[in-house]
Amino acid sequence: MAVDVLLGLQWGDEGKGKIVDYLANQYDVVARFQGGPNAGHTLKINGENFVLHTIPSGIFHENVTNIIGNGVVIDPIVFKKEIEKVRALGVDTGNLMISNRAQLILPTHKQLDAASENKKGKAKIGSTLRGIGPAYMDKTGRNGLRVGDILTNNFKERYQALKLKHATLLELYGQETDITEIEKEWFEGIELLSTLNIVSAEYVINEFISEGKNVLAEGAQGTMLDIDFGTYPFVTSSNTISSSACIGLGIPPTQIREVIGITKAYCTRVGSGPFPTELTGETGDFLRQKGGEFGATTGRPRRCGWIDLPALRYSSILNGLTQLVITKIDILNEFEEIGICTEYNIDGNLTTELPYDLAERNITPVVKMLKGWNQPINQIHNYEELPMEFINLVESIENYIGVKASIISNGPHREELILKAQPEAV
Ligand code: GDP
Ligand code: IMO
Ligand code: MG
Repeated sequence: MAVDVLLGLQWGDEGKGKIVDYLANQYDVVARFQGGPNAGHTLKINGENFVLHTIPSGIFHENVTNIIGNGVVIDPIVFKKEIEKVRALGVDTGNLMISNRAQLILPTHKQLDAASENKKGKAKIGSTLRGIGPAYMDKTGRNGLRVGDILTNNFKERYQALKLKHATLLELYGQETDITEIEKEWFEGIELLSTLNIVSAEYVINEFISEGKNVLAEGAQGTMLDIDFGTYPFVTSSNTISSSACIGLGIPPTQIREVIGITKAYCTRVGSGPFPTELTGETGDFLRQKGGEFGATTGRPRRCGWIDLPALRYSSILNGLTQLVITKIDILNEFEEIGICTEYNIDGNLTTELPYDLAERNITPVVKMLKGWNQPINQIHNYEELPMEFINLVESIENYIGVKASIISNGPHREELILKAQPEAV
């Protein structure tokens, strides 16, 4: 078995990009399996932040093949900009492959996203408005256009037919469809896409696997945003959990080895929806400022709160977690006390289970306060040298979910890490 899956355990933005970039040189292939430009994965390259939306986070490693899987939705406009930025850094995109089965986001998908959100008013999802929901709706509705279609003779006609369908829907929302400018950009993106390696990625990946190569499947969003198991309806439109890596890449479940789940040492969420441990006062503001908690895709301020252990255990169960990675622990350096939520009080009843209708419930988190270490730890790379209070926090998390941490991240740079237990050699 040679496929490891790496994904977010919370509501996204756990630091997946940084960790994939760090681990990438242990793999031959890094592959994205779901989501699209709603994702923003930040890598620090030569001290500068670089945000990837569609391209896998292994792109800066020369010897790694990067694959965009069939489960991904691609906006050619965003994608073109991303390719140009990556190339400007001297990266040869020859090691990038795109599944011919990946779905395309049309300009009208973005309009439909906005129209749907406007219509929802106060109940809006807080979507990134990147057209994700409408594009996946067209996929499951069997209307979608796929990357492979770009190379067919009647692509333009198929595009026009789908655009017309969208125009009818937009009319129902009372919206016009003047997309002349954006459509031009979109076709420029299509032009660029057609020059890249469009492949039957399921064959390519399985061939790599049979040759004994190692694949890292990179998730987007997080488990609590999963369309089935997240805080529905405040979720994204794809499955974000580990089993989605099989569907989104065409890999059999028998090939999955490690499942590496990432959590921040606290919790954030961008967009609407339930967030039991949210801190709306000074502490939340402090976490936001200190942690730079502003969306990598939309720039929106992220909501912040204490780590939610019942939610983390739920994620751990759904993903079959084998390794835990804790990120942004350095953001807690100045705290005298650090909260961990161990239970929920729902209508006077204590529980550690997430109700299916979390969005409808009035939840009070039961928060246990642990003593903080209250000192900088960024220069420490040896787990044993860390303050007792730090180790206590890590062990409290590990013991609650029953999975050990392999890596603890204490800064945004690639090498700012504490390797607790080396992941098994791959
Ligand atoms: P992703 O979507 O999961 O890849 O995460 P994002 O890139 O959206 O957000 C994570 C943010 O935290 C980025 O700005 C990273 O540079 C930063 N980051 C990642 N790990 C750490 C860490 O351990 N400490 C600090 N201070 N920042 C981190
Ligand atoms: P990464 O991969 C954080 C959130 C949006 C919104 C909901 C639905 O960077 O962790 P959508 O645009 O998918 O219709 O939005 O999901 N969301 C994310 N939040 N990180 C992400 O990706 C997200 N992708 C979507 O804010 O609440
Ligand atoms: Mg992000």
